[in-house]
Amino acid sequence: MALLIIGSQRTKEFADAILAESPGLDLRMWPDAGRIEDIRYALAWGPPPGALKTIPNLQLIVSVGAGVDHLLKDPELPAVPVVRYVDPDLTARMIDYVALQVLYHQRRTSEFLEQQRARVWKYQPEPAAGEVRVGLMGLGVMGAACVPPLHALGFSLCGWSQSRKQIDGVTTFAGAAELDAFLAETDILACTLPLTPDTRGILDRALIRKLSRQGRPQRLPGPVLINAGRGPLQVETDILTALDAGELYAASLDVFEKEPLPDTSPLWDHPRVVITPHNAAESTSEAIAAYLLRQMRAHQHGEPLRHVVDPKRGY
Ligand code: NDP
Ligand code: OXD
Repeated sequence: MALLIIGSQRTKEFADAILAESPGLDLRMWPDAGRIEDIRYALAWGPPPGALKTIPNLQLIVSVGAGVDHLLKDPELPAVPVVRYVDPDLTARMIDYVALQVLYHQRRTSEFLEQQRARVWKYQPEPAAGEVRVGLMGLGVMGAACVPPLHALGFSLCGWSQSRKQIDGVTTFAGAAELDAFLAETDILACTLPLTPDTRGILDRALIRKLSRQGRPQRLPGPVLINAGRGPLQVETDILTALDAGELYAASLDVFEKEPLPDTSPLWDHPRVVITPHNAAESTSEAIAAYLLRQMRAHQHGEPLRHVVDPKRGY
């Protein structure tokens, strides 16, 4: 009944946390898989394509992340259940990230930082939170969790998802047919969509141009894009073009088409772009270990698994 940790740069850290909670566990670290027939469970982040297929008795894959595109892109992924990581520790960190970036742009902070560097003391009109509409693109675990804190800060909220949702105080939109209406109600777009064939490249210039720009003068100088979902949701050349054309006021990007973001990317130097290294929500190894062990025990006791991925849907 061995567990294999595969793909993650944090493998050793995870192993220590897992063994601290379950000292007797037979734990292997890829590529030292030992007798491969013993392995029943895998804790995985971006495993080498085809690697999981070589484990003949694999029964469950636990994703280190909430997103599972790093697994589903493997054309030879074994047909065993995949559960994704859902945990209050991860969610709380995403709430921090989204709230931080929303406030940062609402308060025009990139401009004040530029002014500071130039020793300029200059007032800039800032909209009140209540004058800014935040559009939550994705109303799953992450998007929905951002509602109460953003509400408490006073922002107006709308949200978009695949299936229709009813969330108190949020104007909700569903499906491709209502995307444009959602965008038209959005000053700051905060994206926590998963990467699927339907969402790849969705954050392009055409979408940016549909964001609200006819707001009252006290609103932001232009729309804002926050992407904490996945890099390939966005078209980076379009984001730069939109920024330079004044179609987008600013962007906060935590994820990129290619990670790490190449040195040569013009995004690094753009004064209205906030870059973080895919750490909007990075959970502790202890929380991930506890979650993994809970799922493994449920599997061993024949109890229902939680947060099972639908491979057809892609998330
Ligand atoms: P969920 O599966 O709970 O939520 C996904 C949301 O996206 C759902 O509301 C879903 O709609 C919606 N959605 C999916 N496809 C479409 C579509 N084609 N059109 C409209 N809406 C769509 O996932 P989480 O909230 O837990 O996580 C979301 C993503 O956030 C992850 O997949 C991952 O990529 C990213 N993430 C990034 C992190 C980071 O550090 N940058 C950390 C954690 C997560 P419906 O509700 O109707 O199914
Ligand atoms: C995740 C991530 O999907 O950290 O959880 O990107």
